[in-house]
This record gives sequence, structure tokens and C-alpha cells, in this order.
Amino acid sequence: MRALVVYYSRTGITKKSCNAIADALRANEGVEVQVEELIDLTDRSGMAGWLSGGKDATLKKPTQIEPVKADVASFDLVVIGTPVWAFTCAPAPRAFCEQFAEDLDTVAFVVTMGGAGDKGAYEAMEGYCGATPVATLTLIDKHVKADSPEQFVGPVGSFAQVLRDEAGSSSGN
Ligand SMILES: Cc1cc2nc3c(=O)[nH]c(=O)nc-3n(C[C@H](O)[C@H](O)[C@H](O)COP(=O)(O)O)c2cc1C
Repeated sequence: MRALVVYYSRTGITKKSCNAIADALRANEGVEVQVEELIDLTDRSGMAGWLSGGKDATLKKPTQIEPVKADVASFDLVVIGTPVWAFTCAPAPRAFCEQFAEDLDTVAFVVTMGGAGDKGAYEAMEGYCGATPVATLTLIDKHVKADSPEQFVGPVGSFAQVLRDEAGSSSGN
């Protein structure tokens, strides 16, 4: 089974989460994992970036991302990670979902947030991808930062196991 993990991360929480998921997937024999960070070509740094990011997410304003290197269509499973921005998906993962919608068949979503809005992000991503996720994982900032065994490490391991089972069965592995 070949899995692609793509994510956007402004401050490192989604990056840490998605890398942990990739490592957990790799722990399974026969699973090949590629990880790619999505780069938003709009500057999202500082307070100005925070404000424009929230506004662009709310208004669903399109953003440009750096060209994706992975051959997205060649993977059995694509895991897409996003922070929640203004109760929805951030602009860069949205751009990825829309750009590759035709290639996204078996997908899973990872959402990180301060405390609320994962449901809106999942609904939005499902619409952009045109695919229902085989699994979703919501992680909260403070639990990710603390490497919480119950609310970060454990859920990441369980999520990876579900993905392996789901994607393995759909790809015949
Ligand atoms: C523009 C913006 C809007 C946000 N909106 C929300 C929100 O609606 N709900 C929430 O719980 N957290 C919100 N957050 C916090 C992030 O979702 C959270 O800190 C996330 O884990 C950051 O991931 P990252 O470090 O990978 O960028 C927002 C952050 C930003 C920058």
C-alpha cells in the first residue's frame, strides 16, 4: 500500500501531527509513505497573515500553492492535513483538494485546532475533494504540543491502523 500524506501548517502543529501519522503508517510492513508539505504562496506570517488567513478562509478566496511534487494519482491513499481556520479548512489544503479532486479517491482527513471548527473543515474538504474520507482525526493544539499519550499519541496510532486496514483492503494488499 502506498500512502501520500500532504499537509499545510502555519505554526507546526499540523506538521508534527502529520509526520507522526506518517511514522505510524510506516511502522506497518508493506506500507510505503511519502510526505509533502503544501506551501501557500500568499504570505500568512505575523498578525497580518493571521487576519488575511481568517478572512480568506471565511470568504473561500482561492490561493496559489507551490506546485505539488508527488504524483497524487499514483497513491492508494491520500491523507490531507489542515489547521482549522475560521471554522473551516485553510486555503492551501483547499487549493490542493480542488486541484487534485479527480485523483482523490481514497482519502482521510486530519484537522488540528485550538478548540472548535473541525466539523466545518471536514464538510468543506469533503466537498472540495468530492470524496468521503475513510477516516478523520481531530487533534487539539495543547494535546499535540504535550505529546499527550491519550489525546495525541494513542489516537495517531489508532488512526494509522484504521488507514492501513481501509486502504489495504481497497488496494488489495
Ligand atoms: C487564521 C486562523 C484562524 C483560526 N481559526 C480557528 C478556529 O476557527 N477554531 C480553532 O479551534 N482554531 C483556530 N485557529 C487555530 C489553529 O487551527 C490551530 O492553532 C492549529 O492547530 C494550527 O495549526 P498549524 O500550527 O499547523 O498552523 C486559527 C488559526 C489561524 C491562523
